[in-house]
Amino acid sequence: MIVTIDGPAGAGKSSIAKIAADRLGFEFLDTGALYRAMTLAAIRAQVDFSDTQEIIRFSSTVDIQWDGQRVLLKGEDVSAQIRTPPVTDAIRFVADLPDSRSRLSEIQRQVSTGRNMVTEGRDQGSEVFSDAECKIFLTASPEERARRRHQQLADMGRPVPLEEILRAQDRRDEEDRSREIGALRPADDASIIESDGMTTDDVLELILKIVRSKIAEQS
Ligand code: DC
Repeated sequence: MIVTIDGPAGAGKSSIAKIAADRLGFEFLDTGALYRAMTLAAIRAQVDFSDTQEIIRFSSTVDIQWDGQRVLLKGEDVSAQIRTPPVTDAIRFVADLPDSRSRLSEIQRQVSTGRNMVTEGRDQGSEVFSDAECKIFLTASPEERARRRHQQLADMGRPVPLEEILRAQDRRDEEDRSREIGALRPADDASIIESDGMTTDDVLELILKIVRSKIAEQS
C-alpha cells in the first residue's frame, strides 16, 4: 500500500510521515530530499542555472539513491548538506523543469514498487502516485507554520525574526503552487488535515486512523 502525504513547507509532513511509517511498519520516502540532492549535485557540478538545457542534461545523468533513511549521491550520504540555504534557494531551477521532475518521479516509483510505503512531498497523491490507496494533504495556515519554524530555530539556538521566516515561506509557497507540472495541490480524493491548533500527536493519531480505515476497507 502507498500512503501519500503532501502539503506546503513547514506543515510538519516529514517528521510526521516518518513516525507514521514507523508505527505502521511501512517504509518512508522523503521526496523533497531527492529534489534537494539533485540541486546539490548541480551546484557542485557548477551547472549554469540560467541554461535550461544544461540542467536537463545534467539531471538525466545524476546518480541519486534513497536507502530508506538517507539520500545518497554517488553513494555519498548528503543528508546534512541538502538542508543548507544555497540548496533551498536553488531548488526551483530543478523542480520547475518537467524533465528533471520526471526523472525524480521515476526514482520515486522504482523505490516504492511492491512496498508498503509512506511517501511525502508536494505531488505524490496528485501525480506521482495518483493510484495510491490512501492520500493525505497536510496543511496549516502560513502564520502557524511560520510560528512553528520560528520556535524550532529558536530551540536550536538560531533565532530568526518571524517576519523573515514568513516572507521566505510565502515565496516558497508561491513557487510550489505555481509550478506548471508537479504543483502543490491536494488530489481530488485526498483527506485534508488543517492542523492549526493541533499537536504533532493529534495529527499523527488522525493520520493513523485514516490509514487504518483504508487498510480495513482493502481487506
Ligand atoms: O519538502 P522539502 O522542503 O524538503 O522540499 C524541497 C523543495 O523540493 C520544495 O520546495 C519543492 C520541491 N519538491 C517538489 O517539487 N516535489 C516534491 N514531491 C517534493 C519537493
